[in-house]
Amino acid sequence: MRETIESQLYSREAIAARVKELGQQLSRDYAESEPLVVVVLKGSAMFASDLLRELSIDVEVDYIGTSSYGDATESSGHVRIVKDIGASLQGRHVIIIEDIVDTGLTLDYLLRTLNLREPASLKICALLDKPSRRRAEVPVDYIGFSIDDHFVIGYGLDYASRYRNLPYIGVLKLEAE
Ligand code: PRP
Repeated sequence: MRETIESQLYSREAIAARVKELGQQLSRDYAESEPLVVVVLKGSAMFASDLLRELSIDVEVDYIGTSSYGDATESSGHVRIVKDIGASLQGRHVIIIEDIVDTGLTLDYLLRTLNLREPASLKICALLDKPSRRRAEVPVDYIGFSIDDHFVIGYGLDYASRYRNLPYIGVLKLEAE
């Protein structure tokens, strides 16, 4: 496959402005609680590190690792937890941080798994939402940008483990050579 970055979808500046707004909104909504922020590795690491710095409230941060895509562009539909959260969720207000909701299969699995641990509440904050690709209905409470069906890379998002370090979000075109 020949890979080309076709276009830039969101610049570094546009992302920073939207992340700041999300941080302000979360800070208002969680002003009365000290939520547990669960970052879904690996794609969300960059979004989370910027978002966390926009929060003006006290939070606890933990990480969970999932995998469903491997090196493919299509979800395998089989979600695995490759690294679990250390903190207890019981009675906590929990916010899951995702870089992208595509088919929704990852979040559907995470919501079902984490709800069994009896949090006081469980909400989702995703930088990107691709509603046209949904295979499982998941409630996304906070959305940075809703996008069309592009294969996006950068700002944490990868294709075959590359491009995560780009400071912007781009559209990747894949063509047979
Ligand atoms: C990506 C992304 C989400 C998930 C979204 O993770 O970070 O967790 O896919 O896709 P879905 O809605 O179709 O389930 P991936 O499994 O590629 O792992 P990574 O974050 O480590 O790259």
